[in-house]
Amino acid sequence: MDGIWIIGYRDFGFEVADVAQEAGYAIAGYVEYDASEKQEERREARILPIDEMTPGAVDRFVCAMTSTLLRQSLVERIAVLSGGTAAPASVVHPSATVSRHAKTQGGTVVMAGSVIASGAKLGQWNLVNRGATIGHHTQFGDYCTVGPGVHVGGNCNIERNTYIGIGATVLNYIRIGSHCLVGAGAVVTKDVPDHSLVMGVPARVIKSDFPGR
Ligand SMILES: CC(C)(COP(=O)(O)OP(=O)(O)OC[C@H]1O[C@@H](n2cnc3c(N)ncnc32)[C@H](O)[C@@H]1OP(=O)(O)O)[C@@H](O)C(=O)NCCC(=O)NCCS
Repeated sequence: MDGIWIIGYRDFGFEVADVAQEAGYAIAGYVEYDASEKQEERREARILPIDEMTPGAVDRFVCAMTSTLLRQSLVERIAVLSGGTAAPASVVHPSATVSRHAKTQGGTVVMAGSVIASGAKLGQWNLVNRGATIGHHTQFGDYCTVGPGVHVGGNCNIERNTYIGIGATVLNYIRIGSHCLVGAGAVVTKDVPDHSLVMGVPARVIKSDFPGR
């Protein structure tokens, strides 16, 4: 397979690059969008500062940041900087299981050990972190993040830019609105309105004007 670019030259960028390599991709290089962040690990690789991106420089890419809002803003910025030529790659770790009857869209990263069940549909630019499970016929909007070890039951509807923290559980038939944050370890037993921060067992709304994460 040809090389893909990883957006993010820092800790999580390296983890996503590992997933891409396990999935059989070569790494074309990293796009660094915040050079001010101290980074202890460096890798021998082509590094392109985002401000130096010119049309045609990046052809296919995935984003390596857990923030849904940052991912969206970088995807939109890269669309402009690349003159619309940069296309989303999709990366699925070989130990993950994506049902042949599930659909994922461009830009989605599925990390090791995750399972996406039959009939599930994920929008563009989702991130499914390690060991998460997404139940049958559950739908996700664009730019969602599913933390490590999260379990989302069947027939749920998770709207765009929602972030589900490490180890949370969402019972089946639940709707979680857009731009929500589900705290680590929460158990979501009821529908959650847009722009909510929820946490706890059972999950309670802590903030209802949450901007998204
Ligand atoms: C829910 C969350 C957003 C709250 O963050 P915060 O507003 O900075 O909260 P604080 O750390 O200041 O804690 C505020 C209080 O909530 C409690 N709290 C924090 N997170 C909690 C959680 N997930 N569940 C239950 N209680 C939690 C704290 O213990 C603290 O309680 P106290 O006031 O009695 O001491 C955050 O803790 C969280 O769960 N983030 C998700 C992290 C994650 O999954 N990352 C994935 C990386 S791959």
